Amino acid sequence: MVPAWLWLLCLPVLKALPEAQPAELYVEVPENYGGNFPLYLTKLPLPHEEVEGHIVLSGDSGVAGRSPFTVDPESGFLLVTRALDREEQAQYQLQVTLETDDGRALWGPHPVLVHVKDENDQVPHFSQATYRVQLSQGTRPGIPFLFLEASDGDEPGTTNSDLRFHILSQAPPQPSPDMFHLEPRLGALALSPKGNTSLDHALAGPYQLLVQVKDMGDQASGHQATATIDISVVESTWLPLEPIHLAENLEVPYPHHISQVHWSGGDVHYQMKSQPPGPFDVDAEGNLYVTRKLDQEAQAEYLLQVQAQNSHGEDYTEPLELHVVVMDENDNAPVCPPHGPPVIIPELSPPGTEVTRLSAEDADAPGSPNSHIVYRLLSPDPEERAEGKAFELDPTSGSVTLGAVPLQAGQNILLQVLAIDLAGAEGGLRSTCEVAVTIKDVNDHAPEFTTSHIGPVSLPEDVQPGTLVATLMATDADLEPAFRLMDFAIETGDTEGIFCLDWEADSGHVQLRLHKNLSYEAAPSHKVVVVVRSVEELVGPGPGPGATATVTVLVERVIPAPKLDQESYEASVPVSIPAGSLLLTIQPSDPMSRPLRFSLVNDSEGWLCIKEVSGEVHTAQSLQGALPGDTYTVLVEAQDADEPRLSTSATLMIHFLKAPPVPALTLAPVPSRHLCTPRQDHGIIVSWPSEDPDLTSGPSPYSFSLGPNPTVQRDWRLQPLNGSHAYLTLALHWVEPREHAVPVVVSHNTQRWQLLVRVIVCRCNVEGQCMRKVGRMKGMPTKLSAVGILVGTLAAIGFFLILIFTHLALVRKKDLDQPADSVPLKAAV
Ligand SMILES: *[C@@H]1O[C@H](CO)[C@@H](O)[C@H](O)[C@H]1NC(C)=O
Ligand SMILES: *[C@@H]1O[C@H](CO)[C@@H](O)[C@H](O)[C@H]1NC(C)=O
Ligand SMILES: *[C@@H]1O[C@H](CO)[C@@H](O)[C@H](O)[C@H]1NC(C)=O
Ligand SMILES: *[C@@H]1O[C@H](CO)[C@@H](O)[C@H](O)[C@H]1NC(C)=O
Repeated sequence: MVPAWLWLLCLPVLKALPEAQPAELYVEVPENYGGNFPLYLTKLPLPHEEVEGHIVLSGDSGVAGRSPFTVDPESGFLLVTRALDREEQAQYQLQVTLETDDGRALWGPHPVLVHVKDENDQVPHFSQATYRVQLSQGTRPGIPFLFLEASDGDEPGTTNSDLRFHILSQAPPQPSPDMFHLEPRLGALALSPKGNTSLDHALAGPYQLLVQVKDMGDQASGHQATATIDISVVESTWLPLEPIHLAENLEVPYPHHISQVHWSGGDVHYQMKSQPPGPFDVDAEGNLYVTRKLDQEAQAEYLLQVQAQNSHGEDYTEPLELHVVVMDENDNAPVCPPHGPPVIIPELSPPGTEVTRLSAEDADAPGSPNSHIVYRLLSPDPEERAEGKAFELDPTSGSVTLGAVPLQAGQNILLQVLAIDLAGAEGGLRSTCEVAVTIKDVNDHAPEFTTSHIGPVSLPEDVQPGTLVATLMATDADLEPAFRLMDFAIETGDTEGIFCLDWEADSGHVQLRLHKNLSYEAAPSHKVVVVVRSVEELVGPGPGPGATATVTVLVERVIPAPKLDQESYEASVPVSIPAGSLLLTIQPSDPMSRPLRFSLVNDSEGWLCIKEVSGEVHTAQSLQGALPGDTYTVLVEAQDADEPRLSTSATLMIHFLKAPPVPALTLAPVPSRHLCTPRQDHGIIVSWPSEDPDLTSGPSPYSFSLGPNPTVQRDWRLQPLNGSHAYLTLALHWVEPREHAVPVVVSHNTQRWQLLVRVIVCRCNVEGQCMRKVGRMKGMPTKLSAVGILVGTLAAIGFFLILIFTHLALVRKKDLDQPADSVPLKAAV
């Protein structure tokens, strides 16, 4: 009978495992079994064949020390010998072994787990018999402010230990009997919605709640326990906080206490959030701390939210807000605007032109003195000078404007401006801001010549077109290369276009060149006015007088050097040639050329002379010392009559010949002439009476000389006149008055002839003429004696004259009536 229900009661679980590793045997035993003992639990899976040995049970012997388990050796059943208490021991771990008598294991050890199955034999217990809790006004309904704790000894997880909490009663039941809500499973006590409203209105006194805890879950049966909760309602201390002002960079030990919050309700945990996240913290007592230095510039304000939470992290009420204002400290110097490219200001900009407007930034609190910046000009030296300042600075706005002092083009100026906060007060932080300013050039300078007058430049007429006349230089005070470009032009003085200009765009040099031929006759001088202008449009006043330059050009007349008709001249003369004989005539090659002046350069013997104008070369004297066969060379120089520096020369070679035999002198029938004595300034022109005009006018002249008779040479003098005539005068002061036959040798080339010039020498009258005609004599003597002498003399002369006249009347009667000195005697050979 027993094994039958035992099989029903026990649920032996045999796990089919390989025999090498025997599966654990699991057996459950009901707690507090009230039946008979021993209680058969399960048949052990011993080997089927009978083996000699005995079964040994070992393992967990239980709390009591003596194992409640045994094995029936007969049946091989596991037995429990007494009632088990799960709360005492819930499980037993056993091993079954079949051993021989000498302790050798024949089977096993086989594990057996015995589980004591729970019975609801334990009563739940509150952790405290009485709970005291403070409930702050303002606690939100539904937020637990007390968590009840209760325990049950029965097996956890089973209904035997499944506890439920209930409010059994509330005292006082005013203003509402169910002001509180107890969450059954958690035991979380919170205000009910009704309680929320009531709590605010009536300052309710303390409440007492009787609460129950019961096991077996929601089943009606079960064990239960009760406890009381004393709730004292306290005034809320969760009050809004004044904003906190905290200085930045505060030098204090950190964390630094800044404020405190307090939730008057019990079991509070404070949490804090910072918006934006900041270095703030709250401790368990609700003390608020700042954990490190604050930086106003990084964050000027924080909003802290402090939460009062229960142990489950639920807010009892709205978070408390705390404004933290970081107070500014003047810890930031003004920051200059970044360096930009230089500010370009055109030259000649009027005073007041804004150069730049500085705006330094100050990170300190805006609107506070800490960020109130004023400006001060450091450089250029703002000291007021006589002519004013170059720059003006408005201290408030930072606007830099041009002052009265003009700035030069090309200047690069570094403006240095001090920016000071605290409105420039003592202790203000300062920064030096720099602004580069470049003065841009404008075309305000007209180009000018460095010299206003050039020359006079002398140019020969024959210079080639293209010849450089003068180089003019101009300068431009502007800086910009484009403004320095110049244009040149001839303004006046060149209507004919004789000159031209030649320049390179950016050189500043201009060359005045000849464009056409010069002509002295057309214009012996030129005054060329060259003007220079800026290519770009000029700003400001127009060009001054320096924009023109005058070049004076003088044209030099060019006279060709004289040229003779031969390069050298030769003449052959007999050594006996008389003085004054024409040898030859040196002539210019072009008869129309300018007049020349001839001279002999090295006539060392003095034999020759040359006519300065005509170029006729004569023998100056008889060629004493010249030997036939010799050659005498002299240099003839011909100079331009107006320009003596222009000259040429040629050699003149005289070949001396043997003197030809003097031909028989032929007394040519030459009419006699009259000369009076003592000697007067009269003479007789002797000529070569030739019928051939070519001979007389030819280039080779005739020369005249007196015959060799010494008396003749003493009494007479013969001077050559030209190539065909000579002049015969008395050589002595007194020559006997009578008829003289003067022999004159005429030579032409190698030919010689002799003339006999018949001269009647008479006494001179007071007029210096021959007293030939008695009738013409003016009566002079008054005395009879004188008259007698005169008559006698006149009778003698008259008689003498009659003799001559009658002799000559046959030859040439008419000549007697002609003037004695004016008519040349013609002689026929
Ligand atoms: C609790 O009471 C306050 C003030 O009377 C009210 O503003 C709030 O809405 C109430 N809460 C609930 C959940 O009724
Ligand atoms: C300029 O002079 C040169 C010689 O001096 C001559 O050959 C040329 O023809 C002249 N030109 C003019 C345009 O008269
Ligand atoms: C004169 O000068 C020329 C050239 O120099 C020379 O040949 C000649 O012999 C000179 N005559 C005399 C007389 O010195
Ligand atoms: C030479 O002089 C005479 C007298 O003066 C003159 O009549 C004659 O024409 C002249 N002959 C020459 C070639 O000059």
